[in-house]
Amino acid sequence: MKQYVVNSLEETSSLAATLLPELLRAGVVSLEGPLGAGKTHFVKAVAVALNIRADVTSPTFTLLQSYGSGGKQLHHSDWYRLESAEEALALGLEEYYDDGLMIIEWGDKFPDILPPETLRIRIEPQSDTSRMITLISPLPLL
Ligand SMILES: Nc1ncnc2c1ncn2[C@@H]1O[C@H](COP(=O)(O)OP(=O)(O)OP(=O)(O)O)[C@@H](O)[C@H]1O
Ligand SMILES: [Mg+2]
Repeated sequence: MKQYVVNSLEETSSLAATLLPELLRAGVVSLEGPLGAGKTHFVKAVAVALNIRADVTSPTFTLLQSYGSGGKQLHHSDWYRLESAEEALALGLEEYYDDGLMIIEWGDKFPDILPPETLRIRIEPQSDTSRMITLISPLPLL
């Protein structure tokens, strides 16, 4: 486990960029934490770090958005609105697990169906602008 405290949006973004090698090594990341914690903000920062220019938003209706061409693909899913593990399985995300980076917001809703290599990142608000960010990995962290 590793923990960081960040004190602004910009610090969250730079931590996301710093952690990029860790995220890419895992291949699948579950982003956890309450509403408005900063999960989507974190994904936006990862996209910037991957040189993806598309505007990353929450994949509310499609439940999966893929970004990038040529370089690394970024796949972004959000399980907030899903009601069962079956619904999450029906997204067929495993098809993308070996192709670039998959980040799943609210992955802790159905932890049993996350692949074993999943890196879990928990974002906990400490105040309006500060966040505690905790990494839990099945592998020794880089
Ligand atoms: N240090 C910080 N890191 C990330 N977000 C922050 C920080 N400080 C303030 N914020 C604010 O917190 C909010 C985070 O919103 P965001 O949509 O990223 O949350 P979320 O965890 O994806 O929420 P949801 O569960 O609804 O998907 C934004 O309004 C952002 O400006
Ligand atoms: Mg979000």
